[in-house]
Amino acid sequence: MAYEVTASRKRPPNFDQLAGQDFVATSLQKSVASGRIAHAYLFSGPRGVGKTSAARILAKAINCENWSAEPRAEQALASESPPPYNPCGTCDNCLSITRGNSLDVIEIDGASNTSVNDVREIRDEVLFAPTNSRYKVYIIDEVHMLSNSAFNALLKTIEEPPPYIVFIFATTEVHKVPATIKSRCQQFNFRLIGLEDIKSKLREISAESNIEAEDEALLWIAKEATGSLRDAYTLYDQIAAFSDGKITIDKIKEKLGLVGLDEINELVENFADGSSVESLRIAGGIIKKGISPEQFVIELSEYFRNLLFIKNGIRKEEILGSPAERFSAKALEKLSVKQIEYALSLLLDLFRNIRYSLNQQFEIELAISRLSFITKHLSDVEILENIKKIKDEIKRIPVHGDAGVSGAKDAGAAADANAEAEKQADFTSYRDEIVANFKKSNIMLASSLAKTTLWTREGNSVKICCIDSFSLDFIKNEISALKKELDLLAAGNYKIELILPSKEEPKEDILSSNAQVDLIKTIFKGDVSEVRIKKENSDEY
Ligand SMILES: Nc1ncnc2c1ncn2[C@@H]1O[C@H](COP(=O)(O)OP(=O)(O)OP(=O)(O)O)[C@@H](O)[C@H]1O
Ligand SMILES: [Mg+2]
Ligand SMILES: [Zn+2]
Repeated sequence: MAYEVTASRKRPPNFDQLAGQDFVATSLQKSVASGRIAHAYLFSGPRGVGKTSAARILAKAINCENWSAEPRAEQALASESPPPYNPCGTCDNCLSITRGNSLDVIEIDGASNTSVNDVREIRDEVLFAPTNSRYKVYIIDEVHMLSNSAFNALLKTIEEPPPYIVFIFATTEVHKVPATIKSRCQQFNFRLIGLEDIKSKLREISAESNIEAEDEALLWIAKEATGSLRDAYTLYDQIAAFSDGKITIDKIKEKLGLVGLDEINELVENFADGSSVESLRIAGGIIKKGISPEQFVIELSEYFRNLLFIKNGIRKEEILGSPAERFSAKALEKLSVKQIEYALSLLLDLFRNIRYSLNQQFEIELAISRLSFITKHLSDVEILENIKKIKDEIKRIPVHGDAGVSGAKDAGAAADANAEAEKQADFTSYRDEIVANFKKSNIMLASSLAKTTLWTREGNSVKICCIDSFSLDFIKNEISALKKELDLLAAGNYKIELILPSKEEPKEDILSSNAQVDLIKTIFKGDVSEVRIKKENSDEY
């Protein structure tokens, strides 16, 4: 027997075999069972989901020699749900319709018979009663392709057809069918077929033909078919042809030039580890194998899309396309939702750009390099949040000393640290006030004091850091005047100690033990290499 492709060999013979269109199937079965046959039906929906098949089943059902509307109509009246009805498939009418040589079921391809003359022919023909059956059925596929005048001619025919005429129109583009036609038809919308339905149909045919098939492989085919059973069958045939009796996901990926999940897992784990060299090496290897850049980007995007789903608790295999356990646990642990979102948007951008790129490989390498720093990535929102956090924290932490560091450790100490911080903040403002006061009486002292950087109080002693020994000496000479002023302003009896900034020490000190520095380090996940203290009311440091 000649080889027949699966899609035509497996045309569903009856309503029960029509997969994934339960609503359509039961509605049609009910109306056939109760003998309520419309003059015109319009079947709309995506390609390869069973419209033509359903039209043929309906034609068989109403012309089946083993069908009689009358007793069924009584049953239907008696019960809410009439018994399901299917054509017998064995009578002469059923057989000739299945074979496509029935004189009373006429299939017309709307795409190649678009003119008004074609439709006029139909109009003349409908006047002749069916030869061997109850109904003369016209199945017009791709009806949206008809010209306007053809539609008008058709309209006249379907408005008042002889009682034995049934039109079944099928279309993938129902919006192109004029409303005047639509309103005269019983309309049925066919849906995309679910992944599980497609997979179980594939399982059926692989069992029938004694071909072993991995679950993951069938799921992959079903997913690729994006809801069309015909596409799934066609892809299955293609894969079965090179699979030597055993369909595996690895063989599919190898033969069809796809990246395997294991390889992507390895790549993404390297992203998570921040190792750009290794990531670039793996990506280079993938491209060298002849996998197209687009395909690579598509698969990598799908991978991150799936990580996002898993992170959000969605682990269904039919959504992910592979069992959730197949995705790297390490990547899932190390990457945050925000980072995964960033990776996905980067890859989607890449996909948009790659077609117009000067060099596709460079584009991919750039993206891989960026993705290798993914764990360092902070979204705009996170950066803003962190800046706000820093602002709030810095307000609470004293400039010097470790009160802030230990203060962060327990709430009571934190409160003390706060009080402390406020006192010290006051001392900075004393400096400015004192400078202002001396401006009139002792301009030299005022200018030396203005150049001091840090005023910190420890107990009763106030440390003032001078910028050089010259100003230190000058202030030392005037120390009693300064003390008088400070004691007065800060209401106390303070011992003033003048110090010089040591070249290395304070820097070391501030880098290792300052609470503000620590905070910035944790928030930005990095290191602080230098601290410069800005002079108040000036752009200098
Ligand atoms: N719902 C379905 N149940 C079972 N098989 C189906 C179904 N849909 C499609 N198929 C398979 O795909 C083949 C093509 O289906 P069919 O011609 O009915 O699709 P269609 O919706 O008319 O597509 P198109 O819009 O491209 O004409 C069938 O022979 C059958 O093998
Ligand atoms: Mg069709
Ligand atoms: Zn029959």
